[in-house]
Amino acid sequence: MKKFLRSDLELLPDYTPAHVTDPRAVIKLDSNENVYGPSPRVIQALGDTRTWQFYFGQDDVREQLARYANVAPENIVITNGGDESIDLVLRAVLENGDVVIDAPPSFEMYRISAIANRARVVDVPRFENFALDVETICKTPNAKVICLASPNNPDGQLLPRADLLRLLELGALVMLDEAYFEYAGESAVDLLPRFPNLVIVRTFSKWAGLAGLRVGYVIASAEFINALHKLRAPYNVNWAGLVAARESLNDADYLMNNVRATIAERERMCVELNKFDWLEPIPSKTNFLLMRVRGREPQTIKQKLAEKHILLRAFRSERLKDYIRISIGTPEMNATVLSALNEL
Ligand SMILES: Cc1ncc(COP(=O)(O)O)c(C=O)c1O
Repeated sequence: MKKFLRSDLELLPDYTPAHVTDPRAVIKLDSNENVYGPSPRVIQALGDTRTWQFYFGQDDVREQLARYANVAPENIVITNGGDESIDLVLRAVLENGDVVIDAPPSFEMYRISAIANRARVVDVPRFENFALDVETICKTPNAKVICLASPNNPDGQLLPRADLLRLLELGALVMLDEAYFEYAGESAVDLLPRFPNLVIVRTFSKWAGLAGLRVGYVIASAEFINALHKLRAPYNVNWAGLVAARESLNDADYLMNNVRATIAERERMCVELNKFDWLEPIPSKTNFLLMRVRGREPQTIKQKLAEKHILLRAFRSERLKDYIRISIGTPEMNATVLSALNEL
């Protein structure tokens, strides 16, 4: 089969499938999911819907979403998760060999989608404290797209606005991923009228607890969004996802209460985890915390906690081999995590 496959696909890392058969049988804190789950109104509406046999477009939900995001419906396209947003944006702009700047460590889909869309990825690694190396990005020639997350995954820190403004002035397309916007409370949406080269990506996976239903969206200039509509599959978001998005927006107050509970627990966990002399959590604006581990092996910690049915993330890459990342759980989950860490 190899002769049929694009040779550049060899640049992509091997696919590792998710392996948890029943996520509710464990305390699953390895993928930055929402531990409170979706709004009860979503569950109710999915059970009540009787129209699965029809095709549904996204126009109605887009109007509602535009009000939530404080833009016009012409500035939004809804996608099959943030992952599809990222791919669609890159697909719309990249031609063979175009330069895409990635700032690792960051969310891995930027690099994967850039390669899939035949770009040349130029890495501008972050500093030791995960701050962006803005100078080097500014000096990189011919960049067509700069991929950034704010807050960034895995460290959870916001991109300072001054840095974003400098990058926008360069004129390259800046794809700004605000997947954790609701936890951070800070957005660059207000910059869209001034910078047509700004494209924002968001998701319902985190704040609305819809990771399994795959709903994301792009916010950008009407002209750019129009191009994405031409390129996307007509029914790229399934009807269940659209129903769930609609009901999440109808119940945003409930969901934002859960977001606030997670933020309060994040702040408490940051203090509590800091009390371990072998852990150094980085203050975060998301629903997870990245921690440097001193004098112990992160893979062993991961394994020992897995034996207690707690899943967290350890990394294989050289840059992150001394770190673990953990989603913020409910107060009960977090208490279990702290006592499991105490027992180590
Ligand atoms: C920074 C960032 N962007 C995008 C996503 C993808 O979200 P979705 O589930 O909407 O594809 C994630 C998921 O972890 C993420 O951390």
